[in-house]
Amino acid sequence: MEPVNAAIVYYSATGTVHALARAVAEGAEKAGAEVRLRRIAETAPQAAIEANPAWAQHLQEAADMPVAALDDLGWADVVLFGTPTRFGNPAGQLKAFIDSAGPLWFSGALAGKVYSAFTASNTAHGGQESTILALSNVFYHWGGIIVPPGYTDPVQFRSGNPYGTSHVAGDGPPGEVAVEAARYQGRRAVETAAALKAGRAA
Ligand SMILES: Cc1cc2nc3c(=O)[nH]c(=O)nc-3n(C[C@H](O)[C@H](O)[C@H](O)COP(=O)(O)O)c2cc1C
Repeated sequence: MEPVNAAIVYYSATGTVHALARAVAEGAEKAGAEVRLRRIAETAPQAAIEANPAWAQHLQEAADMPVAALDDLGWADVVLFGTPTRFGNPAGQLKAFIDSAGPLWFSGALAGKVYSAFTASNTAHGGQESTILALSNVFYHWGGIIVPPGYTDPVQFRSGNPYGTSHVAGDGPPGEVAVEAARYQGRRAVETAAALKAGRAA
C-alpha cells in the first residue's frame, strides 16, 4: 500500500507551536507517513513583529520552513493543524488559510481525511481546549474524521490533554512530556489514516 500522506500545518509566532509541530512530524514519520511539515505564512505588520524580539527571532529562524499551500491539504490523507491560542481561538493567520479553502471544500476534496489539532497558550487555563474545539468546528464542516489522542497512551496521563497536545508557553519551551505527547498524536493520526486507507483500497 502507498504510504499515508501527512500534512502538518502550523502557525507559530515565538516558536512553541513550531517545536510541537516538529515533534508531531517526527511521530508521523516514524509511523511510516510521507510528511509535509508546513508553516503558515506570517501576515502580521512588521511593526508588531519587531516590538516582540522573540517573535522577530522565530520568524528569522523559521525562514527556511516551507510555507503551507492549499495543495498540501488536497494531497494529505491526514492533516494536523497547530496554532497558538489567541483569546481562546486559533490564530488569525491559520484561520485565514483555512478560510481560503472554500473551493477545495466545495469540490469535496477535504472530506474523509483524518484531522487532529494541537496548541499552546501562555497560561494553564488560557484556552487550550477551546482553541482545539474551534478547529474541530472546521473539521465537522469538512466532513473530516477527528482523531484526538484521548487517553489512549500512557503519555496522555502525564500530558493530560485528551483534545490534542498542548503546552503552556509561560512555563518555557515544550519539555519531554509535551514532545512525547506530540509524537504520539502524530503517530495515532497516521495509524488511523493508514487503517482507513487500507480499508478503502480493499
Ligand atoms: C493576541 C494574543 C492573544 C492571546 N491570547 C491568549 C489567551 O487567550 N490565553 C493564553 O493563555 N495565551 C494567549 N496568548 C499567548 C499565546 O497563546 C502564546 O504566546 C503562544 O501560545 C505561544 O506559542 P508560539 O510560541 O508558537 O507563538 C495570546 C497572545 C496574543 C499575541
